[in-house]
Amino acid sequence: MPLPSNPHLNQQTARSVVAASAAALGALTIALRYWYSKKGPGAHVGDPATAARRVNGVAEDEYDFDEYDVVIIGGGTAGCALAARLTEDSSIRVLLLEAGKSSLDELFATVPISYGQMFHTALDWDLWTTPQEHSGGVAKYWPRAKLLGGCSCLNAMVFHMAAPEDYDEWALAQKGQEGANGWTYREFSKYMLKFEKYLPSARHPKVDASLRGESGPVEVGFFGHQANGTPKFIEACANAGIPAVPDVNTAKGTLGVTKAMTFINSSGRRVTTEFAYLTPDVLRRLNLKVVTRAHVTRVLFDTSGSTPRAVGAEFTQPSGETFRVKARKEVVLSAGAVHTPHILMLSGVGPADHLREHDISVIANLPGVGSHLMDHPVVDLHFRDKSESSIAFVAGKSLAHRLKLISALLQYRLRGSGPLTSNICEAIAFVRSTDRSLFPPEEFPPETDPEDTTSGPGAPDLELFFTPLTYTKHTGGVLPPGHYFGLHAVLLRPSSTGTIRLKSSNPYDAPIIDPQYLSTPHDVSVLVRALRLLSRIARTAPLADMLDPVGADDAALDHALHTRDDAALAERVRRTAETLYHPACTARMAPRSEGGVVDPALRVYGVEGLRVVDASVFPTIVSGHTAGPVIAVAEKGADLIKADLSKLKA
Ligand SMILES: Cc1cc2nc3c(=O)[nH]c(=O)nc-3n(C[C@H](O)[C@H](O)[C@H](O)COP(=O)(O)OP(=O)(O)OC[C@H]3O[C@@H](n4cnc5c(N)ncnc54)[C@H](O)[C@@H]3O)c2cc1C
Ligand SMILES: *[C@@H]1O[C@H](CO)[C@@H](O)[C@H](O)[C@H]1NC(C)=O
Repeated sequence: MPLPSNPHLNQQTARSVVAASAAALGALTIALRYWYSKKGPGAHVGDPATAARRVNGVAEDEYDFDEYDVVIIGGGTAGCALAARLTEDSSIRVLLLEAGKSSLDELFATVPISYGQMFHTALDWDLWTTPQEHSGGVAKYWPRAKLLGGCSCLNAMVFHMAAPEDYDEWALAQKGQEGANGWTYREFSKYMLKFEKYLPSARHPKVDASLRGESGPVEVGFFGHQANGTPKFIEACANAGIPAVPDVNTAKGTLGVTKAMTFINSSGRRVTTEFAYLTPDVLRRLNLKVVTRAHVTRVLFDTSGSTPRAVGAEFTQPSGETFRVKARKEVVLSAGAVHTPHILMLSGVGPADHLREHDISVIANLPGVGSHLMDHPVVDLHFRDKSESSIAFVAGKSLAHRLKLISALLQYRLRGSGPLTSNICEAIAFVRSTDRSLFPPEEFPPETDPEDTTSGPGAPDLELFFTPLTYTKHTGGVLPPGHYFGLHAVLLRPSSTGTIRLKSSNPYDAPIIDPQYLSTPHDVSVLVRALRLLSRIARTAPLADMLDPVGADDAALDHALHTRDDAALAERVRRTAETLYHPACTARMAPRSEGGVVDPALRVYGVEGLRVVDASVFPTIVSGHTAGPVIAVAEKGADLIKADLSKLKA
């Protein structure tokens, strides 16, 4: 963002002060980096040559390396949790293969506010969708972390478990198949509590700690920064009719507005699943091996029996060397909602016609692989902030900004607090687009109500959130100079679904991602309602006091949104919708006859010895954030695998 420098300084002084502050900033950054590098137990990660067989011209079946029971592909949000839980049983030997490296020494995967700094770097798969016909005609950027811990290293750290009804809907969609009931909220929520360790906060005394997890490995709480605008947003929402609630993560449901609980620990550190689960103690287990920079190119199958059986994996290292490894009992895909279906298709499991187009021999015809892609589109609104309380200085280049940043760095280094612990998405609200108290019938006639796609009468289809700075195109766009806050509308229950397809049979080619954003009138109309509501909240006290009318007529800003008609709002929605980074459902748990890819035990249909444990298995996208639900899926997945392996033993 181009920002003006202080006009009271003459250029000469300005230049030398800038140089000095830049130097100080550099020194502090180095100090921070050094401080963190002291902590990283990254050295426990294994050498691939001791974990797998080098492949140099040997026959297809010569990869026997009898060391592992379970090979997990993808050491991301789910993969790290799964590896740690499985290896609690010392009789289960686990190999975890991750394409990226350890995140522990990565400053930007540690200091909460800095995640955007990893966008488009080597730590990001840097994915793009196809041009979106119904959303501006342009390709949209999809950040995805290439690191141990996966997107838990790159996400906005909002800890949210979605709506209880979401999981009852998941269970119901299994049509009574064995194990379906294990996914109801009543049953599944024990895995939510299992991973969580809630640290109570004096600032949020109304949170009932007895309803929160207290002894899991993942610390959550309210250790993130709270900008001046954040409580004002919460109050403005309450004044506009959205109840302020202390906790949106309980059996009571998720409707209301609140300060976001975050995956940030009491020292102000981002809590990733690598940090939480792959602790030095866990890495010392003799039955766990972690290999990083291992890009898995396919799952290996034994096709000699009547049903193909997954028996191992092939991976390459950046050096170009190829390795194969055998899984005696299971292969688990935890490569995320984009790469899990990609690897399945590269391995011959997917829509048969599509695989043949790319000369891939079909192991199992499963049309559901890569289909039913769901994501949450978001529309970002920008408002000038008269109170100048924005925390945009963290990315600013002016002298004043640099000086503020230095003080913020010091506060962070010394106390683990301050603006650098902002997760940016600081306050969140969950509402229903047909709530009469928010959308009065005089203004929103019931006959214009969007179709109800929520998972139940107590579940939302919209999320609104506040950011004490603003951005366009994931910080890739430009706004006029100044202080801003952002209000954002998220479509939680889209009726549009998309696909992940192969671009080629080359495993290094990213797959074709087509989320089909806003391809139904429903999706646009729900977001138009959200824009109306946000526009009202922006003009409601006390947020209204923050609005700076000066320069607010700029077409890039949204101060005059309430003066526009629905068609203009729909155009705004289509033109500027982006991803909230929640792709899911690309290897969904559903009956096979309904396009499902895995059964309620997360086993892939049509083959043996293969499971999926990550966001791909969501039957339908949850009405909330996805990291927490993914960790809970991994916790349950670990129990399912342990149960099956102990049956084998018996
Ligand atoms: C910018 C951003 C912000 C977000 N904000 C939030 C938030 O605030 N709250 C929230 O709840 N959720 C948020 N999310 C979403 C959430 O983080 C994800 O839904 C969740 O982390 C996905 O977990 P996963 O295990 O399915 O996949 P991932 O965590 O992506 O893990 C997949 C892993 O597989 C590895 N991999 C992929 N292909 C291969 C291969 N061929 N070989 C070996 N390894 C491979 C990847 O490198 C990665 O480590 C955000 C996501 C992003 C990107
Ligand atoms: C939080 O993370 C920091 C930094 O790695 C660590 O030193 C500290 O022990 C963690 N806090 C807790 C309570 O685990």
